[in-house]
Amino acid sequence: MAAIGTDPLVAQNFLEQGNVVAIPTETVYGLAANVYNEIAVSKIFTIKQRPLANPLIVHIGSLAQVHQVISQFPPPAERLAMHYWPGPLTLLLSKKNSIPNLVTAGSTRVAVRIPNHSLTLQLLKNLGFPLAAPSANPFGYVSPTTPEHVQDQLGSQIPYILAGGKCTVGIESTIVGFEDEKIIIYRLGGISVESIEQIVGPVIIHNPAKDLPQSIVTPGNFPQHYSPTKPLKIGPIPELLATYGHQKIGILGFDKYYEGINKQAQVLLAPSGSLQEAAYNLFTALRQLDQMPIDMILSTYVPDTDLGRAINDRLMRASANRTQT
Ligand code: TXA
Ligand code: MG
Repeated sequence: MAAIGTDPLVAQNFLEQGNVVAIPTETVYGLAANVYNEIAVSKIFTIKQRPLANPLIVHIGSLAQVHQVISQFPPPAERLAMHYWPGPLTLLLSKKNSIPNLVTAGSTRVAVRIPNHSLTLQLLKNLGFPLAAPSANPFGYVSPTTPEHVQDQLGSQIPYILAGGKCTVGIESTIVGFEDEKIIIYRLGGISVESIEQIVGPVIIHNPAKDLPQSIVTPGNFPQHYSPTKPLKIGPIPELLATYGHQKIGILGFDKYYEGINKQAQVLLAPSGSLQEAAYNLFTALRQLDQMPIDMILSTYVPDTDLGRAINDRLMRASANRTQT
């Protein structure tokens, strides 16, 4: 199993030797390697069992470093970076030639962000290279938000997990791209659409489910993703119960328990009713339900504003039928 520790210097040594290590971010844990070391980067794909056609986000430690990764910084991208970095915002921009094609799956655009976690920022500032890192889960499964989640699933394949506690945001970064004059959100995430629009005005939200399979602009944005192994149905719980209530079910609720159902089989995303709290708990809750002795998970949608849109997006992907992709 992987050693779990809190020393960025240990992580640094492993990374400098071409190893892959897990790193904490504010969104989810990442599976990181030296972006310039293609052998190390290829290990990420093997460990995750991820298709090579699905590119990786490049993580940097400061705004000054961004020009090592991108060749152009359009003004709206720069404004967003100034506002939300370090933070759960990934920008899709023209890449520098020095970024290997393996990292971008052959695309001329690279996804880049500064994560907001003190240990990882310290690590990135000491390293002489940026880190390519996808979420540290097996391809298609729920993303990890604690060191234990990483250990459980990938611990036997990596030497070290840099442990930084439970991820404070709990849901992946928002991915934003720039085409002609348009600003496009390719993945809903930890920074809300409303927050992006406050800085750059109206944006377009890319709909991967609708646009697939002709134009997979963000290749990893598969409709089925972030999934527990148990079937998941989403909708008003009383209606779902009418259809599926005869099975052994577990319930993912928002802020209140449902009466007449065993509380042990219910997990609440946010007793306080806050969407931040719901995002923070989402992936832990899905894992918890996945491990219960039940046949099926029934989940409610959360209010579809702010972070709620990203939460509902993850729930929908988690529930999508595997045979469709
Ligand atoms: O919050 C996050 O973004 C986390 C933490 C670890 O930073 N990372 C993460 O990575 O969620 P991953 O690989 O699980 O999801 C990244 C998404 C994928 O859908 C991938 O296809 C897309 O970003 N992506 C990465 N590079 C891209 C590129 N050059 N062009 C288009 N899409 C890209
Ligand atoms: Mg992922």
